[in-house]
Amino acid sequence: MRAPETSDLVTYIPILTSIGLALYVIWHCLRPKADIINPNIKKTEEKVVDTMNVDDIKEDISFCRCWRSQEFPLCDGSHNEHNKKTGDNVGPMCLRKQQKKTFCD
Ligand code: FES
Repeated sequence: MRAPETSDLVTYIPILTSIGLALYVIWHCLRPKADIINPNIKKTEEKVVDTMNVDDIKEDISFCRCWRSQEFPLCDGSHNEHNKKTGDNVGPMCLRKQQKKTFCD
C-alpha cells in the first residue's frame, strides 16, 4: 500500500470546498434570524396591533415592549429575565391614571 501523495490530496480540495460551502449555505438559511424582535406572540398575524381605549384604564397599567410577556400586550415582568440573559435594557411603557383634582382636599 502506498502513502497518499500531495497530488492525491489536492484532488479532494474542490470536493471539500463544495461541501463546506453547502453546509454554510444551509446553516445561513436555517439559523435563527437575529433581527426578529417578536419571538412567539401572535405569529400567525401579519402585524400585531393591540388597541386599548384610554378611558377604559381604571388603574396604572404597564405595556410590554420586550415581546416576551405571557400576558402580552401587558407586561408580566418577563423583561427582567430577558435583560439578564442578553444584557439588554428593555422595560415596559407605563401609563398612569391621572388623578383628577378634586376640591374636597
Ligand atoms: S414583560 Fe415585556 S416589558 Fe415587561
